[in-house]
Amino acid sequence: MKNILVIGSTNTDMVIRVSNLPLAGQTVLGDRFQVFAGGKGANQAIAAQRAGGKVRFLTAVGNDNFGKAAIDTFATEGIDTSAVQVIDGVPTGVALIFVNHGGENCIAVAAGANAQLTPEVVDQYSQLFADVSYLLMQLETPMAAVESAVALARENDVRVILNPAPAAALSDSMLTTLFCITPNETELEALTGVEVKNVQDAADAASVLLQRGVQNVVVTMGAAGALICNSDGVHHEQAQAVKVVDTTGAGDTFNGVFTAMLAAGEHPRDAVRLAVAAASLSVQTAGVRPVA
Ligand code: RIB
Repeated sequence: MKNILVIGSTNTDMVIRVSNLPLAGQTVLGDRFQVFAGGKGANQAIAAQRAGGKVRFLTAVGNDNFGKAAIDTFATEGIDTSAVQVIDGVPTGVALIFVNHGGENCIAVAAGANAQLTPEVVDQYSQLFADVSYLLMQLETPMAAVESAVALARENDVRVILNPAPAAALSDSMLTTLFCITPNETELEALTGVEVKNVQDAADAASVLLQRGVQNVVVTMGAAGALICNSDGVHHEQAQAVKVVDTTGAGDTFNGVFTAMLAAGEHPRDAVRLAVAAASLSVQTAGVRPVA
């Protein structure tokens, strides 16, 4: 197993369970309020480490209790925390999350310290790219830093997996460097302009990204499993039917496990199969992780 570098966000998730997700201008009465540890970067780093990966994590937290608890958790999980940034004067990132009774969510994130993960910080930690086989990133930290990391990965022959969440426009130079991009259906629509309602639509939209130079497109499709599209063709991996409690972080579990399986030498289709199974397990409990 080679090292995996994860660069991304750390958040505290403030979650309210509601019957129906609120619409614009609407107030809804919720029931339970809970606080969980989250952040796409942190969730993916922990999932990759738990799946057997050897993870280094470059993230930024505030000099506050949530930040300290997050660092403790990363260390307890066995993640290399030597590059974690503790930033004075800004809070650790916060996500406000509504989850309905079907397990669907909507999320708003206040970046806090995550916004301080700048290209300068990434460049300062260029040594992290040595001896790494995969770099896993998301888009909850500044795009300029993601671009710097992609450039360093290229120089160091590190394969880049980008989970484009939340969706944002991506440059051609970034797309042509990506080993794999892992959008969900909504993100795939935003990236390609192709409406994605089913597996065939997802395959059609994925082909747009393949034409723009990405080597592998993996589309996560919730209850419909996931799709991997590359020069070998299209493979759809079904998910088992499970009782869904909360889908928050399911995509992160998928990305972490997928990356760990690739780093362990699994064939990409097998990595997708195992990641779908892990994500199916993750939706059966509330929240991502307890706060330490
Ligand atoms: O993907 C789920 C995550 O998105 C949550 O943990 C929340 O922090 C947001 O970053």
